[in-house]
Amino acid sequence: MSVGIDDISFYSSSLCVPLTELAMRYGVDPDKYRIGLGQEEMAILAVDEDVVTMGASAAWPMLNDENRGNIGTLLFATETGIDQSKSAGVYVHRLLTLDSNCRVVELKQACYSATAAVQMACALVMRQPERSVLVIASDIARYGLGTLGEVTQGCGAVAMLIKSDPRLVEVCPESGCYSEDVMDFWRPNYMDTALVDGKYSTIVYLKALRQSWKHYQQAGGIAFPGFSRFCYHLPFAKMGEKAHRKLAVTCGESMSDALLTEQIGSGLIYNRKIGNSYSASLYIALLSMLENDTEDLSGWNIGLFSYGSGCVGEFFAVTVQPNYQAYSRRKAHVDQLESRQVLSYDEYAVLFGQHSPRIDGEHDFLKMTNGRFRLTGLHDHKRIYIETTVC
Ligand code: CAA
Repeated sequence: MSVGIDDISFYSSSLCVPLTELAMRYGVDPDKYRIGLGQEEMAILAVDEDVVTMGASAAWPMLNDENRGNIGTLLFATETGIDQSKSAGVYVHRLLTLDSNCRVVELKQACYSATAAVQMACALVMRQPERSVLVIASDIARYGLGTLGEVTQGCGAVAMLIKSDPRLVEVCPESGCYSEDVMDFWRPNYMDTALVDGKYSTIVYLKALRQSWKHYQQAGGIAFPGFSRFCYHLPFAKMGEKAHRKLAVTCGESMSDALLTEQIGSGLIYNRKIGNSYSASLYIALLSMLENDTEDLSGWNIGLFSYGSGCVGEFFAVTVQPNYQAYSRRKAHVDQLESRQVLSYDEYAVLFGQHSPRIDGEHDFLKMTNGRFRLTGLHDHKRIYIETTVC
């Protein structure tokens, strides 16, 4: 039986800041960000949005009366948890009016957890092929003003419907994993910005790629020449380029600039404008490739590398299904990115401060988002979410 991604959709934010604004502010050559890191803009979240509203907004366009009741499980992957106990997915379950017999749970391992969710979802569908699993990955990357990581911030959510006989991509059963207890990036419970050893994190990322690939090959995975395309976890687009060159060297393959662009370029397009979206980033890259590649990818294998600091890596493959383009949501995704309000550095800096956690349990948030769902406030330490009238 074939199991994989039947539908996929993303949601980011209605606000963004061009990295030229940060370059100007910090007196840095804009090419460092544009070429050196491969980034153009970063998505900034409205004050009345969080991982719940983003996740619900990502999933909403995929749901209809027919498929809603068939979702047996909702897996919510995030490193930007909003509660130590309650899963963010339970709020999303209500906002999406899912069936009360649907199980809901949250998964965490930095940027990797969405891949754990996808693998678990495939296993659940193998067990009960008539049911589907909704995987949502939603994150806000925050390092702090004036930090080295600041230009690699961003936010976004991706929603995927995992089903038998999927319309978009089959997830192949072989996979290679690598885990090691390292401190390259982490966020203690009492902090709302990440701590990171930036250069070290890029080294560990590449080590995890090599080791995951080795394990993937031992598991009987497809050899390098059997892949036409590759998608990587993208903390910034240049990391995907570095990773792909490293993998080619590991496999004894040569990698020209033209081949690199051909094999990974279409997967970088959305992330360059969104920035890091942690757990969602790899799947936004896959979505970007399916929607923007100039070739018909039907029948082709795409290699996926998922990395979560701390660290866990996994390499696996998907095979693109015939006629996948018929189910594209490209127009909605491009419109979403093109209609964002562009912020100046000062506007962004003010907004950044407004996202700090409220600890008195009472707060009303200004109406700012034009998304379908919003966080209206915190009352008696309870988060209040509503569906807005704006679609
Ligand atoms: N024109 C073109 N390129 C330029 C340039 C210019 N004028 N000036 C500098 N560059 C290049 C540099 O040569 C460098 O390229 P290489 O990496 O190929 O050598 C690149 O721009 C970056 O420059 P620096 O090394 O000086 O960058 P930095 O000190 O500002 O730090 C960073 C970059 C480490 C990524 C930092 O932004 C950071 O800490 N980010 C957060 C951590 C992160 O994203 N880690 C990624 C791996 S961990 C992970 O993947 C999990 C996760 O999501 C966090």
